[in-house]
Amino acid sequence: MKNEWWKNAVIYQVYPKSFYDTNADGIGDLPGIDAKLDYLKELGIDAIWISPCYLSPQIDNGYDIADYRKIDPMFGENSDMIKLIDDAHKLGIKIIMDMVANHTSDKSSWFEESRKSRDNYFSDFYIWKDPKADGSEPNNWGSNFGGSAWTYDETRKQYYLHYYGKQQPDLNWENPKVRQAIYDVMRYWKAHGVDGWRMDVITSISKNQKFPDNDNPHHLKYVVGNQDNGPRMHEFIHEMNQEVLKPFDMMSVGEAPSSKSKDARLLVDPKREELNMIFTFEHMHVDRKPGDVNGRWAIQPMDVVQLKKTLADWQYNLDGHGWNALYFENHDRARTPSRWGNDQDYRYESATAFATVLHGLKGTPFIYQGEEIGMTNPKFELSDYEDIELKTNYQKLVEQEKTISSSNFLKAARKISRDNARTPMQWDNTKNAGFTQGKPWFKVNPNYRDLNVAADIKSSKSVFKYYKDLIKLRHRNPILEKGNFELLLPEDKSIFAYSREWNGEKWLVIANLSDTKQQVELLKDYSGYKDILGNYASDNEESILRPYEAKILKNM
Ligand code: GLC
Ligand code: CA
Repeated sequence: MKNEWWKNAVIYQVYPKSFYDTNADGIGDLPGIDAKLDYLKELGIDAIWISPCYLSPQIDNGYDIADYRKIDPMFGENSDMIKLIDDAHKLGIKIIMDMVANHTSDKSSWFEESRKSRDNYFSDFYIWKDPKADGSEPNNWGSNFGGSAWTYDETRKQYYLHYYGKQQPDLNWENPKVRQAIYDVMRYWKAHGVDGWRMDVITSISKNQKFPDNDNPHHLKYVVGNQDNGPRMHEFIHEMNQEVLKPFDMMSVGEAPSSKSKDARLLVDPKREELNMIFTFEHMHVDRKPGDVNGRWAIQPMDVVQLKKTLADWQYNLDGHGWNALYFENHDRARTPSRWGNDQDYRYESATAFATVLHGLKGTPFIYQGEEIGMTNPKFELSDYEDIELKTNYQKLVEQEKTISSSNFLKAARKISRDNARTPMQWDNTKNAGFTQGKPWFKVNPNYRDLNVAADIKSSKSVFKYYKDLIKLRHRNPILEKGNFELLLPEDKSIFAYSREWNGEKWLVIANLSDTKQQVELLKDYSGYKDILGNYASDNEESILRPYEAKILKNM
């Protein structure tokens, strides 16, 4: 029997740089995660996904790996990782590492060798192309971090491909040696006890070998797009499954930026032996103007109807065909109370309302560090931000193409930029939020004095306690894992409601995702049901939901 532990699990993501610093260098580290294992055990999570902590020049905070087999000294030693895995296992917590298999750092010895000549062992580890006759790039592909996706190398007199920064060259998955090299890394960490993998932009690994220009409706110099679900993607992922995931029984969750639920069915259908789960981006686009030249920086108020539609579409389409990964926050997303809720008047209520609708769904919920205490976006100035994605897109959109004003860009950054989630974890109200005794690598959100783990746990409105209850519900009630899902009130602009049903049991999960009181007739149909969880202490008039009120009801 396959051990599908992840189906009843809640997984916690640690962004190590910002989690907890034990040696006062201002940077979170592996001993810091170890030191907080009891905290995570108390929360009740089953596994920790650790964002990359391998040797890296940190151009993209570790998503640019120079040596997959070595822990970066800033995070500790390999022995710290091994100790962390052992200590976590002692507490019954599994460890998921982050595999960045689409690209490496340009400081990887693989790339350093590859760029030396056209005929060494590593020459074809990356994607090299000759310039066009006029010396320009092989095609119009744009990098996610601005500019061309191609950079010219003086030694080889060729361009190499990079979907992200120029310091993040894409690996050539057409080369079987590359694929084996990656599988080997996965075996290496398995030998040290790792339980599974989160796979960075795994849907980008297969490139269209004709390298055609992208469509260019906005007449740009370089166009970002068509990076995902390439011709051999399924073949490569299946091979990885057969070579390492299956034989070593490792869990897998792939990042799948442009996949729709019908693509997901191919990626996660157990019969196909590819991945266990994928992270969709679709539901995270409900506050983006579709088709806008400014991409994700073109924000609009979030659309609750669309959010429900998208999440329900994934619930229905994967039912019987694969497993969902459920998330609202991670290191690339903003804080939900600030982005979609109300972080001023209803921080506790909106944090817990969104948590309720997410954790009630069928799938494996992921919690991002700080989400469990309702951390919020810092309202930074442009000069405070660190992220390469933000900086390069500012240059491109504001300075070069001038498609968005600086003030609108800043407005968008305060809502959706990745840095919103990367400020240090707020542990207590001492200096630097108890994150470090030194100077933090990134500014702490000034609201740490009131918003921190120590204060939250003591509060009568504790987000942590609410998450703890949600996790317990999942562990104790098979209906959350197995129950049928049905979306209710699909057209309601404020209410997110659905039922789950299993074995004669029926639950209603319902939340008001607005900051005004809502009359909900539907609740009358559930008048005989018993409240099993809710984010308001006092009772209410029947069939009214207060701002961001959420509850789970159960038939008797
Ligand atoms: C993924 C990561 C993100 C990184 C990118 C390139 O989207 O989550 O943080 O910048 O891949 O590796
Ligand atoms: Ca440190």
